[in-house]
Amino acid sequence: MITTELIMESIKYGDLSEIEQKLVETAINSRAQAYANYSKFKVGAAALDENKNIHRGCNIESADYTLTTHAEMLAIDNLILSGAKTLNAIAIALSSEHGNPTPCGLCRQKMTEFGSEKTQIICVNLNERGEIKDVFKTYLGALLPFAFSKESLNS
Ligand code: THU
Ligand code: ZN
Repeated sequence: MITTELIMESIKYGDLSEIEQKLVETAINSRAQAYANYSKFKVGAAALDENKNIHRGCNIESADYTLTTHAEMLAIDNLILSGAKTLNAIAIALSSEHGNPTPCGLCRQKMTEFGSEKTQIICVNLNERGEIKDVFKTYLGALLPFAFSKESLNS
């Protein structure tokens, strides 16, 4: 039987490794670039590649209300544009009053394309002043178990 461990670990910023802290800081400062005129919900992301380089992303909305780039998508696109191949970790920073904010289903699918079930996901919830309120760590395999991926294709 295949089981996926459900992990959503609350962790203190100070207990993150140096590179994880850098990832979190980069997600937070990328959030400042968000263009979220319609939802007013700013998101920043930072993707870590196989060479330990970090790629930034923020959400970018559009007046048509549908053409939205999610922060994670832009960070992953920037990772691929740089010539890197693998998403080893991603940090996401946003400010939500409810629960543990996690990446949406579309972003989980995009992470699956370049990551693995071990890809680490660090979710940072900020307060209204933009300071860190909560940090959660999980894995792509926990957020999108039984994913459809390139291995699922027959070619
Ligand atoms: N958003 C992201 O950037 N990432 C997610 O995974 C969830 C949602 C953005 C899209 C939109 O600009 C705003 O947050 C509200 O949904
Ligand atoms: Zn998303």
